[in-house]
Amino acid sequence: MRSSLLTTALLLSASLSSVIALSVPRNLPTAFWERRHDKALEKRAISPPFPEDAQDKDLQQELKSQDATFNEWEPGWVPRACVEEATNGKFSASELEVRDVFYDDCEAAWTVCRHRNATESWETIILTLSQVPVGMRQYASNIVILAEFGEPGVAAYARGSVLTFYPTVFTSLGVIMHEFSHILDMVVLAGPMQAYGYPADTPFSHSHMWAEAYNSDSRVPSEYARTNLLEDFADAGRWAVSDVVHPGGLAKYSRDWIHCRSQIAAYETLLADIIFPKGNVCTAKAPSSEPMSIGEIEETENAKLYQPKGTLEGTMLSAIVLPPKASERLIVCRVPI
Ligand SMILES: *[C@@H]1O[C@H](CO)[C@@H](O)[C@H](O)[C@H]1NC(C)=O
Repeated sequence: MRSSLLTTALLLSASLSSVIALSVPRNLPTAFWERRHDKALEKRAISPPFPEDAQDKDLQQELKSQDATFNEWEPGWVPRACVEEATNGKFSASELEVRDVFYDDCEAAWTVCRHRNATESWETIILTLSQVPVGMRQYASNIVILAEFGEPGVAAYARGSVLTFYPTVFTSLGVIMHEFSHILDMVVLAGPMQAYGYPADTPFSHSHMWAEAYNSDSRVPSEYARTNLLEDFADAGRWAVSDVVHPGGLAKYSRDWIHCRSQIAAYETLLADIIFPKGNVCTAKAPSSEPMSIGEIEETENAKLYQPKGTLEGTMLSAIVLPPKASERLIVCRVPI
């Protein structure tokens, strides 16, 4: 039901490579995409705002769940990315439970790490992750669910293709769509951009294509989107998913949505067919990072060794080729206080 997918002069084709070939000149002046990096955006949020609680409730009905099976990892072993994110949150890796979760729509597993004191139960985590559309879900290498807030206000973050969530956040499918959109921006779309003259690891949201979408609108999708272009892209993604799956589209959520429609449409044009692939089965899976033994970690007195260094382990089986090098950009998403 792409009821409100707009006609837009911005992006003409649903094929990623041809969109990029059409739109990106080969030798861009550096200043062109560095101009607005990580700066707060001037445009205001739509008003009335999109209702986030209503979206979460609706997505629970609208995004199909998948049957799952899982294998527990032997005690004493944890994927490197989980060790790093636990350490980053001042938790010990030995407090993590690790499961390989298999869904009916993919032969590969998602390796999920849950702090034993996390608010979310394994049942909730496995069900909620199953509702992330497979073409989006496949790009997560590891998912880490931690216990109490390390840093006040931090809700979740994306480091390359590893997503980390603090308590109560992994129940919000809207926030989860936002975080997965960071992976699409930083990893999935950043790879092809390099071929067209952008420096390695430039997120799509820092391209002049995204600037065109932003410039075509008078508003951004949310107050949070005003943080910078990365967050603008991720919140556009959050609402673009609802534009696809919510009967009646975004008009049902805010009559002002039309003022951020180019951003929503640009996201959909590039990513809707990737997020919802034909047949609804995975076309690839970003592999989990390698197992580490807790013994080995504990013998090392200097836990700083396990501070994250950028953990993308992306080699895709098909479809989009991920960049060979990890994206080290860390995107921390805060909850409004
Ligand atoms: C986890 O919960 C246990 C039991 O309530 C508590 O003793 C422990 O300190 C908690 N650990 C963390 C890291 O929160």
